[in-house]
Amino acid sequence: MPKELALTRFDTPHVPRPHVNAIVRPHHFFSPEDRRRAALIAGWNVFQFPSEMLQGGDLLSDSGTTTLTLEQLSAMVLGDEAYGSNWGYFQLLETFEKTFGISQKTWNIYLFHQGRAAEHALYSHIGKSGLVIPSNGFFDTTRANAEANGIRALDIPRVRYTKNEIFGGDIDLVELERTLKTHTASVPFVLLTITNNTGGGQPVSMENIQEVRTLCKRYKTSLFLDACRFAENAWFIKRHEAGHAQKSISKIVHDMFSLCDGFTISLKKDGLSHMGGALVIRNSAPLLKHKPQLAEELRDHQILTEGHPTYGGMTGRDIMSAVEGLRHVVDEHYLEGRIGLVHDFGSYLAKLGIPIVKPVGGHAVYIDVDRFFAGTKMKREDFGGISLTALLLLKGVRLCELGAFAFGTYDSKAKKDVLPPKNYVRAAVPRNKYEQNDLYYVADCIKGLFENREKLPRAVPTYGRDKTLRHFKARFRLEW
Ligand SMILES: Cc1ncc(COP(=O)(O)O)c(C=O)c1O
Repeated sequence: MPKELALTRFDTPHVPRPHVNAIVRPHHFFSPEDRRRAALIAGWNVFQFPSEMLQGGDLLSDSGTTTLTLEQLSAMVLGDEAYGSNWGYFQLLETFEKTFGISQKTWNIYLFHQGRAAEHALYSHIGKSGLVIPSNGFFDTTRANAEANGIRALDIPRVRYTKNEIFGGDIDLVELERTLKTHTASVPFVLLTITNNTGGGQPVSMENIQEVRTLCKRYKTSLFLDACRFAENAWFIKRHEAGHAQKSISKIVHDMFSLCDGFTISLKKDGLSHMGGALVIRNSAPLLKHKPQLAEELRDHQILTEGHPTYGGMTGRDIMSAVEGLRHVVDEHYLEGRIGLVHDFGSYLAKLGIPIVKPVGGHAVYIDVDRFFAGTKMKREDFGGISLTALLLLKGVRLCELGAFAFGTYDSKAKKDVLPPKNYVRAAVPRNKYEQNDLYYVADCIKGLFENREKLPRAVPTYGRDKTLRHFKARFRLEW
């Protein structure tokens, strides 16, 4: 068995879950025919398919889909909906201090309703065209926010591993130094996405963060984190990186954040909440030294678009959910159960022979669509990943294509598809929602399609092939 799969918690059967069900949502019954009708109305687009029909498992996203704890629900009842300086705001500041080790005395904290709103503020105020931001991997909306402002979003993931291949999210340090040398004055910051969603949800090692920090100091630029899955990243460091096993998750998180000058975060992931986001910048960040008016510009942006800085687009209830979520997420037993479950799902899929991206990351398992259809007549421009996700809807299972269709484009003049380097279908596991058995059902449904891969239809876009962000809007016809 590959090394990374052998380390999963659920390889030992009958390990207790880190929680019990305290509230459940009963399913209504739908037949495959009901689902087929709904899928046709949705144009086989998974985003348009009604979620109430997904008894098999909704693995479209791990974002904002967490099942809340009773502690969160009861904290939310105490949410203070005052317009200014609500009670929860002060608790959130305290929680940021405890969870990330940052204090409002030395950091600027801006709240937003979700991650991309925080990114939009940052990227639209750091300067205009000509800037380059090197990263281990931009998330798609983060990239869109950078590019909308004429900033070059440069992905330079490390591809060759000599030491610890678990840390598939590391940035390529040689490429990074080359970029910093060439563009010294035009790099406002280096961005590390922890864990790296686009690259398979894979973690970044502490060593890599430290080395990036050293390079940033040498070239007088800032290090920013896209910190959506910071706790899952810290768990990988504790479990798999030499020298960290004896540290608590909290200590590792503090160490990670002590190395950065700023971060954006969507609280819909490791904030364990349904809404919320933040942009946080250290007073002494080189970014603020180069552009001292930025702190004030961001505050104005926040007030214009989100509301008073003490709620920043979040309700008092959302704030309380995040206070409790950020406290709980660094619990080692929670993380052990969470990541163990994702890895066990990956292990099971691999045992069934489904080609997945390895090593498995923290929040999702990625199916390699090119290998899935290898040896069949399915070509990349037939969008086999779309067909796969479309047919799974009939089983009440929802996954997300992140490949030839989502990241490809259409050249209308040449009447040709421009295809991206990666072609995946993602099964993202919502936090605290599913059990091992649910995920095995999903895996068995995928296996059923894998065994019939020769006969699967191609997906022909009937609307939206030439649109931006087309995977959200498109419609398809399945052709056998
Ligand atoms: C790595 C990463 N950054 C940023 C975002 C954007 O966060 P939000 O969905 O809250 O806007 C996401 C969302 O999935 C993400 O995975």
